[in-house]
Amino acid sequence: MAYTRFEVRPMTGAMGAEIVGLNLAEPMDDETFEELRQVWLDKLVLFFRNQELTPEQHLAFGKRFGKIDPSAYIPTLEDHEDIRVQDMADASQIGNDINWHCDNSFREYPQKCSALYAIKVPDGAGDTTWCNMYLAYELLSPTMREFVDGLTAIHDLVETMGPGILKQYGPERWQSFRDRTPPVEHPVVRTHPETGRKALFVNRLMTASIRDMTPAESDALLEFLFRHCDQEELKCRFRWENHSLAFWDNRCTIHRGIADFYTERRIMHRVAITDDDRPH
Ligand code: SIN
Repeated sequence: MAYTRFEVRPMTGAMGAEIVGLNLAEPMDDETFEELRQVWLDKLVLFFRNQELTPEQHLAFGKRFGKIDPSAYIPTLEDHEDIRVQDMADASQIGNDINWHCDNSFREYPQKCSALYAIKVPDGAGDTTWCNMYLAYELLSPTMREFVDGLTAIHDLVETMGPGILKQYGPERWQSFRDRTPPVEHPVVRTHPETGRKALFVNRLMTASIRDMTPAESDALLEFLFRHCDQEELKCRFRWENHSLAFWDNRCTIHRGIADFYTERRIMHRVAITDDDRPH
């Protein structure tokens, strides 16, 4: 498709594009929005540089794509409870965003998409990397695709993060985390509701096991799939600057922040959009 409203600069052969010539602070007409939606569905993650956005403008951009998903776990801006503040003051405070995940896959309705806006980023560090989960699925052999097609995974943040919480904060905090965060089931392969394409839907941070398999079988299969997704040929990586914005589709990508900054502070604002449907 030829884009007439902005320039599209592909990031890698796998995914991602930088969009040049669009000011997200300005209201977006429907034609421009439709072009943007098309390039987003095609490239999976879009990057915009030098965007001077107020919290309202950041929220307005997100709302073009759906309903805001309120934050249940991450701190928010004092006067804008729909904007998560991801403040990594130093490496000791860096949370689990550094492991591969799709936002909120541990909930029944994982987030559809996220718009992450850089407020303060370390110089030359703290990139984020994404993986194309359509390609991850398509690069499996036909035999493996047929095998994983019918499987169901259990996503359980307590399985993966619980031991750390227990050690750091004790059993009461662990129990409260357990009560608020029950395990959920999702298909191992989902069909994207807008493109109709199949995508692998597991991630190291939140997928705990495969239903109806022994622990040994489940662990081995998940480890294989996680490693399969960790190939450079499936990815793109973004070097942030203050006031860059990344906008990604959680239905066909996973991502992780890279914690290669050790004393500097990294502050990001995130607006998340909820999905109307459960993955299927
Ligand atoms: C996220 O996982 O939500 C953000 C990743 C990052 O901070 O780079």
